Amino acid sequence: MDRGLFITFEGIDGCGKSTQIGLLTDWLEKRKADFVLVREPGGTPVGEKIRTILLDKENDGMSTVAELLLFEAARAQIVSERIRPALCEGRYVICDRFFDSTYAYQGVARNLGTDLVNGLNRMAAGGLEPDLTFFLDISVDESFKRRRSRAIEDDRIELLGRDFQNKVRGGYLEAAKASQRIKTVDASGTPEEIFNIIKGYITERE
Ligand code: TYD
Repeated sequence: MDRGLFITFEGIDGCGKSTQIGLLTDWLEKRKADFVLVREPGGTPVGEKIRTILLDKENDGMSTVAELLLFEAARAQIVSERIRPALCEGRYVICDRFFDSTYAYQGVARNLGTDLVNGLNRMAAGGLEPDLTFFLDISVDESFKRRRSRAIEDDRIELLGRDFQNKVRGGYLEAAKASQRIKTVDASGTPEEIFNIIKGYITERE
């Protein structure tokens, strides 16, 4: 393995991203691959402050445009401070959510417009695109079941409920249809079954 890849994970809340990211990083460690793991929003001192504002339930009066711009601001920071430098050094970058989240959550579910969001995504990412994106697809019913079993308190976005998550899922399906980069992975199987599919795509790409 002598060249890094930029890999992102996407999906509605409770789709199993964290489990798959854990399996991927274990696998990369075993292969002695040099990688960086980051998450959005966050991943930098500025970005973590923005994350706190975005997810705080007390900010329920935040305008949806302010929300969109804060996600993009955190992204601009993490791309310039962490993602681009790591890729330039030939490292793998694994990102828990990236700009397809903004497409699905703000562009489609919040109805702010996909053209507008695509433009802002390009600006914040400075033209950088992931090499591979895994959209872990799960039904909204299944995701709610999993989230209940985790018993973690919902954040401001998770509190928006089933209709909202359904729209987000629709946004992801739409984005996946339009892009070869996005691999839709049925996330209803066992973690091992799902990871085998992911591993297959990565190996094919290396
Ligand atoms: P987080 O706790 O990281 O959720 P998860 O574990 O599901 O990734 O919270 C991030 C929340 O922010 C999540 O509900 C998705 C949402 N989000 C957007 O609405 N737009 C975005 O551009 C990004 C990156 C995240």
